[in-house]
Amino acid sequence: MQTKFPSESLTILTDLVLPGETNPLNNLFGGELLARMDRAASIAARRHSRRIVVTASVNHVAFNRAVPLGSVVTVEAKISRSFKSSMEIYIDVWIEDRESGNKTKANEAIYTFVAVDETGRPVEVPQVIPQTDEEKIRFDAALRRKQLSLVLAGKLKPSEATELKALFIQ
Ligand SMILES: CC(C)(COP(=O)(O)OP(=O)(O)OC[C@H]1O[C@@H](n2cnc3c(N)ncnc32)[C@H](O)[C@@H]1OP(=O)(O)O)[C@@H](O)C(=O)NCCC(=O)NCCS
Repeated sequence: MQTKFPSESLTILTDLVLPGETNPLNNLFGGELLARMDRAASIAARRHSRRIVVTASVNHVAFNRAVPLGSVVTVEAKISRSFKSSMEIYIDVWIEDRESGNKTKANEAIYTFVAVDETGRPVEVPQVIPQTDEEKIRFDAALRRKQLSLVLAGKLKPSEATELKALFIQ
């Protein structure tokens, strides 16, 4: 099976926060940020697999910081690990300071995509070779997150989630 590096899937979307995209506190509406993250993540999954991809699950979203009107927001999406047909995509969201240009991390999320053929049937994807320390940490934890997601979706028995269980038993 073919292998690829996470950097080959890196997708960066930079855009402004406009008035129609905010909540009553003049911060970016959560659903708008979810959509931007989904778009960036689906492009990253396509770059990794070069197939049609569908969102299978949103595993984690943390809205740690509000994103004010007028902000320049950068959504960075990159694959952390692939399994047979599924791919975990890790998303980091940054806000850019207007004067200094410095970037502050605002949010992060983890989505799972599945590569499918023209009939919607899952197909195999290349495996991931992590390179940086951060990529290796995210790669190692991805199996536990997949098991948790499958347990919560009722698709895996908790007793079969061996790597996840090991976290609590140690
Ligand atoms: C995602 C989808 C293709 C999975 O189909 P399925 O019949 O469950 O297929 P499988 O059971 O073979 O699962 C395929 C892969 O998805 C993974 N998967 C399925 N549900 C998952 C979940 N909730 N969390 C994590 N992974 C999941 C499986 O573990 C498997 O991974 P692997 O091949 O890497 O081992 C199918 O449910 C689908 O098409 N859903 C709609 C997707 C969509 O329209 N998204 C847009 C949002 S509205």
